[in-house]
Amino acid sequence: MSGRAFRLERVSRRFGEVEVLRELSLDIACGEFVAVVGPSGCGKTTLLNLLSGHDRSSSGSIAREGRERMVYQQDGLFPWQTVRENIALGLRDLKDPAERARQLSDLIELIRLEGFENHYPHQLSGGMRQRVELARALAGNSETLLMDEPFSALDYLARIRMRHELARILHHRPRTVVLVTHDIEEAAQLADRVVVLTERPAQIRCELAIHQPRPRGLTDPEVVRATDRLLVELGIDGDASRQTSTNYKE
Ligand SMILES: Nc1ncnc2c1ncn2[C@@H]1O[C@H](COP(=O)(O)OP(=O)(O)OP(=O)(O)O)[C@@H](O)[C@H]1O
Ligand SMILES: [Mg+2]
Repeated sequence: MSGRAFRLERVSRRFGEVEVLRELSLDIACGEFVAVVGPSGCGKTTLLNLLSGHDRSSSGSIAREGRERMVYQQDGLFPWQTVRENIALGLRDLKDPAERARQLSDLIELIRLEGFENHYPHQLSGGMRQRVELARALAGNSETLLMDEPFSALDYLARIRMRHELARILHHRPRTVVLVTHDIEEAAQLADRVVVLTERPAQIRCELAIHQPRPRGLTDPEVVRATDRLLVELGIDGDASRQTSTNYKE
């Protein structure tokens, strides 16, 4: 192992006339949690598709180590399969039935869905469904999770709970994570490093390292500092927006 999960060197992607990514260079270390934020439509999903190998760059090079699993925004589960069957799909490479059964029950315990093994996705809440998605992605031997706005379909409180769940689950099952999100608080609470992209054609505008260990509270000074900085980088002045909300109270 080189200790590096991904190395992108001057990667560009165009779709016909549309230039989406321009000469993007990025290294991601094994075990690192990187969040990617940026304006809507700037090319975040395109970047994930390149990392996963679902899409190819127009120029530049991408080196990856290990196997990846994707976690989507919602509805990635098969509706006609139960929780157990959906997670088992992630374990289909395991030949030994006893080992498969053991891992399956470990995963169900990890996502705290004991008692719901035989439920179908429509019988679960949105947060429970995303936990099943996570369990399926964690099953087997993948080293990397690629997540495209995995919690954006959830309400605010469920989203906050899922951040804690993800931090807890990763503590038990460490992975390299690339998380695309619109939610800068989510990025600030979870990531070791936040990569901010520019408008399309996307380039890296800046990177922000957050050194505090997880779990991090919403009001931890490092999280507040990172959130403010990200707001500024995305063109919204963090201090000013707090000032404004204070003024409204007067
Ligand atoms: N397969 C494709 N063919 C043509 N154009 C594409 C394709 N995939 C993406 N694009 C274009 O690339 C641009 C970036 O799309 P992408 O989905 O990567 O953005 P995004 O940052 O994920 O957006 P959002 O924040 O809305 O999820 C868009 O203009 C989109 O139309
Ligand atoms: Mg997208």
